[in-house]
Formats: sequence, structure tokens, C-alpha cells
Amino acid sequence: MKALNDDLQMRSDWLFPLCTGEERLRNTHGLKLHPTQKPEALLHRILLASTMAGDVILDPFLGTGTSAAVAKRLHRHFVGIERHPAYVEAAWGRIRRQKPAPPEAMEATPTRRDAPRVSFGSLVERGLIAPGTPLTDKQRRVAAQVMADGTLSCGPHRGSIHQVGAAVQTAPSCNGWTFWHMERDGALVPIDVLRDT
Ligand SMILES: C[S@@+](CC[C@H](N)C(=O)[O-])C[C@H]1O[C@@H](n2cnc3c(N)ncnc32)[C@H](O)[C@@H]1O
Repeated sequence: MKALNDDLQMRSDWLFPLCTGEERLRNTHGLKLHPTQKPEALLHRILLASTMAGDVILDPFLGTGTSAAVAKRLHRHFVGIERHPAYVEAAWGRIRRQKPAPPEAMEATPTRRDAPRVSFGSLVERGLIAPGTPLTDKQRRVAAQVMADGTLSCGPHRGSIHQVGAAVQTAPSCNGWTFWHMERDGALVPIDVLRDT
């Protein structure tokens, strides 16, 4: 879910535009085919967040088949139940038109859980880097200090290794793991080495 949200924690309240435009199914009179057709974007997020490719999705109130169409797009199987024949027909048409995403587009991005990597705060917690440790950049232009809560303090800046790294460079973003360095055995090394500890 973080990957869907530019690497930021997803909020628990989600905002989606109503289902309108080309996505909205209409009858031969141009009227909405179903009163509460859901946006595909909503189902896309729900299915990615809660299921894996190859899983079976059950939607007992299928309506126009939004969940089933998105399931097909995302390589999930589906079972749908709907009592109105007109909606069933519309759902089938929609499902048939839906193409599955190319298989190579379905590969999940490895998450931090998959990788043997840890947060900077947990390194501080585990005592692998002590609160108060001075950090600098490769050219020793800036000086920061590790705080007990896993943040960095650098002049007026306080925040994660990434936020403070970006702030001191007035850059939109920064990989704090490679930007910040510490003294080790007389040499300056990126704090990234701590993650292999
Ligand atoms: C809120 S709509 C679902 C809309 C759907 N998510 C979509 O995007 O089109 C609920 C649907 O459940 C169907 N439904 C309600 N009670 C049902 C029942 N007991 N058995 C089967 N379908 C039912 C209604 O006909 C309606 O189409």
C-alpha cells in the first residue's frame, strides 16, 4: 500500500472521485445502468492490499461487476452473486472486455519485510548506533546528531534521516542511508553499512 502512495504510509480514510465518465455503465437511453457502481480505483486498491495474484475474490453483491473486472485485470479469480439479471449481463460484458494486465506488470515490488533491512530508529533502539553520534555528509559540509528517538537533529532541522538529508540540501528528497556518514575506524562510512550488521 505504501508503494501505491509514493512510499508514504497510506491513510485509513480514502478519497476517490465518484464513478463517472467512460467508466460509468449506461443503458441504451444514456442513463446510469446501476445506481451505485463503484470506482475501479477503489477495488484496485482493495484487491492489491488484501489479496495475491491467483486468489479467489467473492463479491456477494456484484452489481455491475466492478470487483470481478478488477480481479481479472489483476490476475485474481472471482465469484460473484447478483440478483438482477440486467446487472449480471452488464457485469459479464464488462468482465469480457477487461484485459488482464501483462504478467510482467504483476510482479510485486519487494517490501522492507522481504528485505533483510531495518529502519534507522530500530538501529538506535538496538544500540547499533548510539544517541548523540555525530553524522555528516561525504564532504563534511553539514553536521547532524543522532537523537534517541531515531531522528536526526541538524541546526533548525529535525526529522528522519531522509527528511533532514533533503532539508540540508534543499532537495525534494534524499536517501538518508547513503547521504549520511559516520566515523568508523578512522574512515567516513555511509550509515547504510549499519543495515548489514
Ligand atoms: C451496492 S450494489 C453493488 C455495486 C457494485 N459494487 C458495483 O460496483 O456495481 C449491491 C448489489 O447487490 C445486489 N443484491 C442485493 N441483495 C442481494 C441478494 N440478496 N442477492 C444477490 N444480489 C443482491 C443488488 O441488486 C445490487 O446490485
